[in-house]
Parts: sequence; C-alpha cells; structure tokens
Amino acid sequence: METIESVVAMPRIGDKAPAFRAITTQGELNFPGDYEGKWVILFSHPADFTPVCTSEFMTFAKLEQEFNKHNCQLVGLSVDGLYSHIAWLRTIKDKIEYKGMKNVEVKFPLIEDITMNVAKKYGMIQPGESSTKAVRAVFFIDPKGTIRAIIYYPLSLGRNFDELMRALIAMQTADKHSIATPADWHPGDDVIVPPAGSCGVAKERMESATKGVKCYDWFFCTKELKLEEV
Ligand code: BEZ
Repeated sequence: METIESVVAMPRIGDKAPAFRAITTQGELNFPGDYEGKWVILFSHPADFTPVCTSEFMTFAKLEQEFNKHNCQLVGLSVDGLYSHIAWLRTIKDKIEYKGMKNVEVKFPLIEDITMNVAKKYGMIQPGESSTKAVRAVFFIDPKGTIRAIIYYPLSLGRNFDELMRALIAMQTADKHSIATPADWHPGDDVIVPPAGSCGVAKERMESATKGVKCYDWFFCTKELKLEEV
C-alpha cells in the first residue's frame, strides 16, 4: 500500500524548475533566477571521492565549453558538504589522470546539499536505490526556467555525454525550426516536419510532394536540415 512516505513529489517535464538558494563551490546560487535566458543542465551525483562520479566530473569539465557554446550552463549537486566538494575537486585537478584528461579544473558550480533540501525538491533521492545518496539525475531546463527533459541513471551507471549533448541540441533545434527529431537523430540528419493538420494538407503532401519534403506516409514526413542551419 502507498504510504505518505512513499509518495515523493517529482518535478515533471513541462513544470517550472523548482526554485532554491544554495551554497556552491562558486559561491551562492539563486536558482533558476541566475540563469534566465540560458539553458541549464542541473545534475546530481551520489558522492564525492567515488570513481564513477570522478570520471563524470572530468568529462563534464572537459565538455563545459562545448555546452557553453550552445548557451548551456552546468550545475552539479551532491549530498556532501562544501569542504568535501572543494577537497575532491582539488584532488581531481592535482592528482587524477584519466583517459588523456589531466589537470582538469571543474569551473562550474557544485552545490552542497547536506540537508537534501534541493535533492528532495528534484526527486534526486530515490530510496529504492539509496536513501542517503542522490541518483544520477539530469534536468534540462530551458531559458524560461521550464524543465524540458529529465534523465535518471542508477548509482553504478556513468552517464552518456554524447546523449546529453545530442538531447540539448535536438531540443534547441526543435524550438528554432518548429520540427521534431527522429530516433537516433544527430545534427545534419533529416528532421520531422509537423504532422498534417487537415485532410487537405495530408492529401497534398501525398499527391504533390512539397519541395524538399519526403513522406513515408501522410503522417510521417521529413525534410533536410543542414548541419550549419542547426
Ligand atoms: C561511484 O561514483 O563510483 C559510485 C558512487 C556511489 C555508489 C556506487 C558508485
């Protein structure tokens, strides 16, 4: 039976990102207000000084500029204290060499959340997996502060960074061009045009192919979108 304790409020796609203030390794943070006009990837990790998390932080740091080029800022979080965060990030920079990455400086903010205040607001504590550590959650938040995508991974599984970048670019491309993106889409691949909204348009699409649009059936049409237009 469902108990009060087992019902955890979780933000959903389309919700406004829950607001909070927090201390981070880059100073105080007012979220999401500090990021108005920008995309944000807000992500949690289970604990400092752990191997999967270390590999992820080095990769996030390596890719930070690439995310920034796409108007996207990174914000990390774990249920550890500020001094643990600082010590861990110093260790990463000073001592860890991994897959060709070394002297890696994590410049994006890492939230201290010993009280679990933020982690609980975002459904990052999932007791079936761990009641003391955050799972690996990824929230994509758009420039208006709306949650656009959420990905959760368990403690043992490091994130796929190609997918994080692909998802960000796909959502930005969908917004910019009013299109959708098919399975396994990558920038430069064909995109899906909005479905025909009337019998007339459906007929037109099937009978007199609109220039540049390829239809597999009346409800499934794609068009080219060049890499440089993405
Ligand atoms: C890790 O980051 O290596 C890790 C953290 C918590 C549980 C399992 C693995």
